[in-house]
Amino acid sequence: MLAATCRRYGAPEVLKIEGVARPTPKADEILVQVRASSVTSGDVRMRAFTGAGIFWLPMRLLFGVLRPRNPITGMEFAGTIAAVGKGTREFAVGDAVFGMKIGGANAEFLAVREARAIVAKPEGLTFEEAAVVPFGALSALEFLRDFVRIEPGQKILIHGASGAVGLFAVQLAKHFGAHVTGVCSTANLDLVTSLGADQVIDYSKDDFTQGSDVYDAILDTVGGTSFSRSKRVLAPHGRHVFVVQTLTQLVQALWTSMRRGRRVIVGFSGGDSKDDLLLIKRLIDTGAIRPVIDRTYLLQEIADAHRYVDTGRKRGGVVVSVDAVG
Ligand SMILES: NC(=O)c1ccc[n+]([C@@H]2O[C@H](COP(=O)([O-])OP(=O)(O)OC[C@H]3O[C@@H](n4cnc5c(N)ncnc54)[C@H](OP(=O)(O)O)[C@@H]3O)[C@@H](O)[C@H]2O)c1
Repeated sequence: MLAATCRRYGAPEVLKIEGVARPTPKADEILVQVRASSVTSGDVRMRAFTGAGIFWLPMRLLFGVLRPRNPITGMEFAGTIAAVGKGTREFAVGDAVFGMKIGGANAEFLAVREARAIVAKPEGLTFEEAAVVPFGALSALEFLRDFVRIEPGQKILIHGASGAVGLFAVQLAKHFGAHVTGVCSTANLDLVTSLGADQVIDYSKDDFTQGSDVYDAILDTVGGTSFSRSKRVLAPHGRHVFVVQTLTQLVQALWTSMRRGRRVIVGFSGGDSKDDLLLIKRLIDTGAIRPVIDRTYLLQEIADAHRYVDTGRKRGGVVVSVDAVG
């Protein structure tokens, strides 16, 4: 089969399209014929290995010290079941599915453990649309539920509201009954409004830390906000949650956890919960949330897709279509 591979860390040029062995599903795995996958901000970080900061060493130990342990790139996928392992029960050959597995999705076939984040594809979505859901939606769900501890009536500000995590965070926070303010650039104001944000702030014109609104939570999905500046507009027991962390924020998180009052929270998303992905699917089925596709590339154009995601300016998801391979 054809797959996009990354055999050393570096610029998008390290990516190649190669012929590799098609995976054989183990007893507890299913084989997915991938119709569409994606390039996420996580994929470009894992390729370039920049921005890992203080997590550089643990991340290298996890993903490969000198070179990527799993050379096949990609983590989001949507496709059809091509074969099922002997011990699996949930899916039959031909079923349409979508899911997330770190490594291996930018390929014609992918073996996934049935117990992991793989569920039936929402009928209302194309394979391309389904392929840009899991990374952003699962991360947004985990951050809102486990770190923000979102509640109906809360006032939440979401910084980076047009990215993969941010646009699902806006929609999920609305679904959970919060009052949502989205922060984005001028070009994305209409998009963030269309996702249901109650208010939008154009960061190129206004600084939310100087406004008169007070928030129960600030969710920073892209970096750039600071606790010391945000305190003014954070409620006395408010939480400033960082999806992307620096050493300063880790120290602040430790310090504020030992005191009463405003808290800094740094979090991590596992992104492999089947139950969470089932919840996301149900919310898509009911129309509560929807994906946004920015651009679509062919598998053969994987390096161009990475170059675009490297800009840090994508709106929602970047699809890698595997359908047209061969
Ligand atoms: N900790 C974890 O477990 C975890 C989980 C998931 C993701 N992450 C990390 O979270 C970050 C966000 O992920 P993502 O996939 O949502 O990224 P993304 O889709 O690449 O984000 C792109 C968006 O960020 C916006 N943006 C860029 N600079 C901005 C700024 N200064 N202020 C406000 N918005 C800005 C851009 O909008 P404009 O063009 O309008 O500025 C663009 O729409 C990544 O660094 C990712 O690695 C961490």
